Amino acid sequence: MSGVSDSFPTGREAEPSPHACRLLVCVGPRCDAEGRGRALLAALREELAANSDAAARVEVTTRDCLRACTRDPIVRLEPWGNLFSDPTVEDLLRAASAAVLES
Ligand code: FES
Repeated sequence: MSGVSDSFPTGREAEPSPHACRLLVCVGPRCDAEGRGRALLAALREELAANSDAAARVEVTTRDCLRACTRDPIVRLEPWGNLFSDPTVEDLLRAASAAVLES
């Protein structure tokens, strides 16, 4: 599946990505306490699987904790570092597109 991968910190993060940006979806104990982090991850993957243009620009990875815990799922947009609390898939893809266009 292009543009979508699972990766927990392995030291490979420093490798250059062919994608314009990366969404780090937290599936840590607070973000996923009610399964909401993984539900957001699944919805994001589903959208990217159906949208090859977005999948070519956006890589999706997971993290155990982004150290920005709330009671809602947290996502970080790299390389800019923008944090989103309880975003929708549409929010994330819109923000990713805007950030790429502005860079
Ligand atoms: S558990 Fe998600 S930011 Fe900490």
